[in-house]
Amino acid sequence: MKIRIFDRICAMTSGIYSILDKVIKLHSLNEDDILRLLKTEENNNLFSAADKVRKEHVGDEVHLRALIEFSNYCKQNCLYCGLRRDNPKITRYRLEPQEIINLAKKAADYGYKTIVLQSGEDLYYTVDKISKIISEIKNFDVAVALSIGEKSFEEYKAYRRAGTDRYLLRIETTDEALYNKLNPSMSLQNRMICLENIKKLGYEVGSGIMVGLPGQTLESIAKDILYFKSIPVDMAGIGPFIYHPDTPIKKTEENFFELALKVMAILRLLMPDINIPATTAMETLNLNGRLIALQCGANVVMPNATETAYRKHYEIYPGKICIGDSPKHCRFCIENKIKSINRCVGENRGYHRSNS
Ligand code: 5AD
Ligand code: SF4
Ligand code: FES
Repeated sequence: MKIRIFDRICAMTSGIYSILDKVIKLHSLNEDDILRLLKTEENNNLFSAADKVRKEHVGDEVHLRALIEFSNYCKQNCLYCGLRRDNPKITRYRLEPQEIINLAKKAADYGYKTIVLQSGEDLYYTVDKISKIISEIKNFDVAVALSIGEKSFEEYKAYRRAGTDRYLLRIETTDEALYNKLNPSMSLQNRMICLENIKKLGYEVGSGIMVGLPGQTLESIAKDILYFKSIPVDMAGIGPFIYHPDTPIKKTEENFFELALKVMAILRLLMPDINIPATTAMETLNLNGRLIALQCGANVVMPNATETAYRKHYEIYPGKICIGDSPKHCRFCIENKIKSINRCVGENRGYHRSNS
């Protein structure tokens, strides 16, 4: 009996080893192999393989992106999100263009080489307003990324013309039935078209998913990973789903940190040189979540550069880290953390393609 169990364990682990061996060499896997990695309990082997690939392909630099959450108004009603239109409990705020520009200047002065402007889908900001904000910020010698949701091709074109380098739009899930259920009045098909348009316009494309959405299957996550490879994305953020009590989603206590880490590690193995952030949601579920992620394949962190007073209102999910801290504090906190694991802060803008 003992021998049989031993044989089984050997067969299981050698299966994982052969998949890891293959992906380290070829950076390609089929859906079944991805599923086996998602299901394996040999997490540490998966994580160390991803760390090795990260080191070989993108090195020890960690690129910082200053995140400015400039408005929490949103016309969408995603079932999982605290900023959803029908959440009456949230205190809404929006920053005026000049305030956003000032915050970006401050972030650039703290040494950030990328500014990310993020908001809900807020119609207050016209194409003109956003374009002007971007062209002002581009004077600070930084890369600019936008994360403001689904727009028309013409609008994306205008932002690109104004100087935007990157656009972040998570696909959230490629399971069509699940997507359409969780995102009323939105469609997976349109989201995919948006990502195609972003790509066509020459942006660096950032996407990503949540891991642990109610109704999500490992099979669909395997498909999400292959979708990122098919675009191919320049960046992908993987965040665990965190239950928000002011949303219609059924309460869950489950912690999806470890599964999100696994998804992130598999992505690194398949797309060895893309940018992968250690996400804020990971740190929300684990005290050292970002540092752990940086040692399981991640090479980017997006510290909060929003003024303290607004932070608590940008409550996509509860328990978000850095709520009471200032932009300056987070800038130096994260650098110290990065140095504590023998890594360094990237000195350039950390583009995927040219690495300049
Ligand atoms: N838990 C974790 N992440 C969430 N997001 C939205 N709601 C939640 C939640 N409850 C993520 C989505 C979105 C990003 C801005 O925040 O992936 O794209
Ligand atoms: Fe709005 Fe984005 Fe939240 Fe959906 S996930 S409600 S689009 S902020
Ligand atoms: Fe904000 Fe550490 S990064 S407190």
